[in-house]
Amino acid sequence: MKNYRRLLRYIYPYKKRLVLAIFCIIMAAGANLYLPWIIKDMIDEVLIEKNMLLLNIISVSIVGVFLLRGLFYYGQSYLVSYIGQRVVIDVREVMFRKFQRMPMAYFDKHQTGETMSYLTNDVNAIQTALVDNLIELVTEGAILIGSLAMMVYLDWKLSLLTLTVIPMVGQAMKVFGRKLKRTGTVIQERLADITSLLQESISSIRVVKSFVREAYEIERFQKQNMLNFRAAMKGVQLTSLLTPTVEFLAALAVSFIVWFGGYEVINDEITAGALVAFLTYAVNLANPVKRISRVYGTIQKAMAAVDRIFAVLDMEESVKDHPGAKPLPEIKGHVQVEHVTFSYDHEHDALADLSLTAEPGQMVAFVGPSGAGKSTIANLIPRFYDVDSGDIRIDGLDIRDVTVDSLREQIGIVPQETLLFSTTVMENIRYGRLDATDEEVIEAAKAANADAFIRDLPQGYDTQIGERGLNLSGGQRQRMSIARAILKNPRILILDEATSALDTESEKVVQAALDKLMVGRTSFVIAHRLSTIFNADQIYVIDHGRIKEHGTHEELLAMNGLYSNLYHIQFSKEF
Ligand SMILES: Nc1ncnc2c1ncn2[C@@H]1O[C@H](COP(=O)(O)OP(=O)(O)OP(=O)(O)O)[C@@H](O)[C@H]1O
Ligand SMILES: [Mg+2]
Repeated sequence: MKNYRRLLRYIYPYKKRLVLAIFCIIMAAGANLYLPWIIKDMIDEVLIEKNMLLLNIISVSIVGVFLLRGLFYYGQSYLVSYIGQRVVIDVREVMFRKFQRMPMAYFDKHQTGETMSYLTNDVNAIQTALVDNLIELVTEGAILIGSLAMMVYLDWKLSLLTLTVIPMVGQAMKVFGRKLKRTGTVIQERLADITSLLQESISSIRVVKSFVREAYEIERFQKQNMLNFRAAMKGVQLTSLLTPTVEFLAALAVSFIVWFGGYEVINDEITAGALVAFLTYAVNLANPVKRISRVYGTIQKAMAAVDRIFAVLDMEESVKDHPGAKPLPEIKGHVQVEHVTFSYDHEHDALADLSLTAEPGQMVAFVGPSGAGKSTIANLIPRFYDVDSGDIRIDGLDIRDVTVDSLREQIGIVPQETLLFSTTVMENIRYGRLDATDEEVIEAAKAANADAFIRDLPQGYDTQIGERGLNLSGGQRQRMSIARAILKNPRILILDEATSALDTESEKVVQAALDKLMVGRTSFVIAHRLSTIFNADQIYVIDHGRIKEHGTHEELLAMNGLYSNLYHIQFSKEF
């Protein structure tokens, strides 16, 4: 109910149209009440009194009323659909904004399909709930109220009788229906019992035979079979009883009403025409009642979708600007990680009390076994996740005290797998800095050793990239990614296994581009192949979320520890 009111807030901006729409719906529904109404005059005045003029008026008015009804019908469909569609695109946009702001942790836990389903299925369910149900509810409601009003107007005594007798029949039907449903469940259960018994005794037929228990099994089966028969017969008995009973009750009710109505006509309390009109309205009541209860069902379903949508909208954005966060000023690139502990699942620490420092312009490398926590460090610096304890400082500022956007603006990331968008090569590189000119984009591509292959593409920089960049090789994609980073010109650079997916040949080209990119920036490099980090200013050997060794390549080799082990394993393999 709370969510329904929240949903109404999305309709609020279109309230003028809504009022007009409801007016159209009521007018169109009102036209439905006109036909039974003229039956009265038709019988009493035209047929009995033989009034020719009234016949002409009635005939013309039928055409007129249906013309008007058509107009209002158009108005209702157009306006209600307009409102429905507007609310859908509004909600969809709010959802999309929300997903753009959702923390990485959300996307770790939820599948893409789930997220898509919110934006498509659930949002569409709102539209159905709004458009179809609103029209139906108001139309049928208007017909219901209108018919009742007409009935009372025509003959209030007969109305009273009808309104007590008919619901009684309805109630009887409901009681029977419930009983029938219960028997249905019992029949299903008995059938399931038989199936499981069958399955059990056939799959254990070896045991049955070895104990000579065939007769015993047959007896067991007979019992179950009989139970099933009894349940089924009970169902049949009920259905065979139900139809005639309900029909009998209905006939009883109708006979009451017809008798009383006829009695009134005979005693000149109402006219014959009024009685026929009354009965027509009474018959017309059945439809709205049926439809309104059906609408109730679909609204329930749509509300489930609405609940899901608001649950998503209410989700907390764990990584967001703190109150009073200021933009990060232009940085030099001094990065300090102090006693950082972090866990993705609040059970196992991915990083435990980890500290390190990178001076501006330094190249800092992380090596270590898979799952050691290298990528985790790379995730924490741009605040994809927040540390559990400890802090990360850039140029002395705690990254939680600055705005997330200004922080990420100054960090460039070249991930292992480049994701390209389905637009041109030019636009894909420009993603690094949206206001870059074409010349700057080309300059960046040249610096990333990408210009040559791009010019060889069918339409050069205007070539459309297929979905996810699938028509480019891994090395080509990687160089586009580097060009993006060059264009962004960040002070801090994170390369997470940027070359690990490449063969030796393209690795060389990409590595050359990366070496150029790293000059003058604080770079964090994660690499499995040690050859790419020999000249790093500092190398951190990470294992189980802790720093095991630290130093330059030469220093680490001299330590004869984990690093030198890794080095010897790799170089005995590679050469
Ligand atoms: N999104 C995540 N959700 C939950 N746990 C995660 C997530 N990402 C990583 N982990 C866990 O955190 C630990 C560190 O993972 P991390 O990705 O930092 O390792 P890594 O050193 O980069 O390994 P690799 O060399 O294989 O890339 C691992 O135990 C991993 O299972
Ligand atoms: Mg990793």
